[in-house]
Amino acid sequence: MVRRRIEELRRQLEFHNHKYYVENAPEISDFDFDRMMRELQELEAAHPEFADPDSPTARVGSDISAEFATVKHRYPMLSLSNTYSLDELHEFLERIERECGPAEYVCELKFDGTAISLTYENGRLLRAVTRGDGVQGDDVTANIRTVRSVPLRLRGSDWPAFFEIRGEVLMPYASFDKINAEREAAGEPLFANPRNAAAGTLKQQQSAVVARRGLDCTLYQLSGDGLPFETHWQSLQKAREWGFKVSDYGRICRSAAEVDAFIAHWDEARRKLPFPTDGVVIKVNSFAERRKIGFTAKAPKWAVAYKFKAEQALTRLVSVDFQVGRTGAVTPVANLEPVQLAGTTVRRATLHNAEQMALLDIRPGDMVYVEKGGEIIPKITGVELAGRPADSRPFKYIDTCPECGTPLVRYEGEAKHYCPNQSGCRPQIIGRIIHFIRRKALDIDGLGEETVELLYENGLVHDISDLYDLRAEQLAPLPRLGEKSAENIVRSVRASLQVPFQRVLFGLGIRFVGETTAKYLADHFRSLDAVMHASREELVEADEVGGKIADAILDYFADSENLRIIGRLRDAGLQFEAEERALASEALAGKSFVISGKFADHSRDELKELIELHGGRNLAAVSASVDFIVAGENMGSAKLKKAEKLGVRIISEQEFIAMLGGDGSSQDAAEKAEQGTLF
Ligand code: IVH
Repeated sequence: MVRRRIEELRRQLEFHNHKYYVENAPEISDFDFDRMMRELQELEAAHPEFADPDSPTARVGSDISAEFATVKHRYPMLSLSNTYSLDELHEFLERIERECGPAEYVCELKFDGTAISLTYENGRLLRAVTRGDGVQGDDVTANIRTVRSVPLRLRGSDWPAFFEIRGEVLMPYASFDKINAEREAAGEPLFANPRNAAAGTLKQQQSAVVARRGLDCTLYQLSGDGLPFETHWQSLQKAREWGFKVSDYGRICRSAAEVDAFIAHWDEARRKLPFPTDGVVIKVNSFAERRKIGFTAKAPKWAVAYKFKAEQALTRLVSVDFQVGRTGAVTPVANLEPVQLAGTTVRRATLHNAEQMALLDIRPGDMVYVEKGGEIIPKITGVELAGRPADSRPFKYIDTCPECGTPLVRYEGEAKHYCPNQSGCRPQIIGRIIHFIRRKALDIDGLGEETVELLYENGLVHDISDLYDLRAEQLAPLPRLGEKSAENIVRSVRASLQVPFQRVLFGLGIRFVGETTAKYLADHFRSLDAVMHASREELVEADEVGGKIADAILDYFADSENLRIIGRLRDAGLQFEAEERALASEALAGKSFVISGKFADHSRDELKELIELHGGRNLAAVSASVDFIVAGENMGSAKLKKAEKLGVRIISEQEFIAMLGGDGSSQDAAEKAEQGTLF
């Protein structure tokens, strides 16, 4: 009964997954999809005996830090010869015709992501490997399994028992913008373009991070021994039937004129695509002809990539401003003579940091090239030295803060300069308050950037805790406010006392603690006191918290000014504790667990979730208050010794699972879940 429901949900969810992520044609609402997903998660949690690594629920990834094994490609991953010139492209077409007579070409978009090779065995995804050096790459299977458009199991049954399919892992602009916004909020360096973001994400060590990054994967080449196809086109149609995402934009072209028209169309139309492309790939369609044409050492001779020119403009650099962010990071920004580029007027461009400026030897007054390739923010890519004034001198980077005059510092491993005067530097003070009131943090509306500046200027707020002392009578007389706005502000400040703990934690603006990390910290530690008193060792036990984040948290709570502010926020009544969760059973009530090592059937996340769902407590480190250690493969020997010394019981994954089902309470939970009464 339960098993049948689990299977039905998996089938339905995979079907709708395909509709949404592959066909871009959802049939049900996100709400209904999420509801089914939740039901499946609950059933699977209560019935670990029906676990399946290909279940749609497994697409959320895990928090295990993976090392990537190096794998040799069965067929080397070649590159393509590139050209920016239509003349060269026509020479390519003429060469093919000389060899094969009139040929058919498949024209495809050249996707601007990172190449991937997927191997399927008996219809199931076996392995995913990056291009690497073309001969061998990294095994990133765990990460690729979280990409919703990659089928874990194929549809139909006419696929070869063993084959490879290659394509491009892409980051759509929407995901890219979202991630960069999050990184900015957390004070982390931004990804320069979607390609870097896609490649960087694939190399993430925790697949749970990959799962949330919104990657997509388009496939464009099938390889295998004795594949039953005569043309590339045929093979792509089949791949689509088997459930792969194959671009709908490919076309068969039968002449140079048709190829030219394809290129001309996409050079313009690609601007409206939701993902980045950097050219068109022209491939001979017939496999027999391909065999005849052959390869060079590096690339096939039957295909060529025509690359679109990155749009560039030449303009004068008028001056350089320096912006100081909430974290004190200094960014040089170029003021340009306005210039038209890719349909917009560009007036400002980022110069990144001092090193970048020195590398390009950029000087005010120079004529500079501005580009807007895959990037959203225009950047300066070079200087036209011919236009340089004779009296020009190398640019000297600033060494004091442009806002408060404090000498700037450089931190190890960071390219930017920082102003260390956190509590006295205006943009840092105001930036922290603005971060705190953002929608995703305390969501204090009625207060925008300008109002925050106004309050600061009038001495009413100097830090986030001052917001909770504001009274309507103080605000109403200020310019542009009035009684109604004043009351609004006071009301929304009061409403923020109900904002859940995870958002309060995010709002504090601890470096590198973005929205997601805050959520994980809140889930793991459950209260601000627990986060504040956690050791470095305990902090890194929380999902997705590495050494860098742990150090930033320790620094934050070591600062007496921060502690004073937190004390005041506590007095004001903010939520410093996570909300209680609904339980599936009380099978583990009163028991504490430490999860250690790697497990065969569940991710560490899943085990932790099961512990909490059944009333148990997760602890970070082995101590006398731990009841059980659930030990997986390669549990650290130091932990093992400590556990033995303290007499803590060590159990296996299977023994742990048995604890859930042993008294029948998880059975009840599943039935409750099925009737929809649990949540
Ligand atoms: S076919 C034998 N088709 O471009 C080469 N590649 O510059 C097979 N790329 O490594 C590649 N879109 O990562 C092919 N429609 C497309 C492509 C494409 C993007 C990438 C791919 C390749 C690189 C070569």
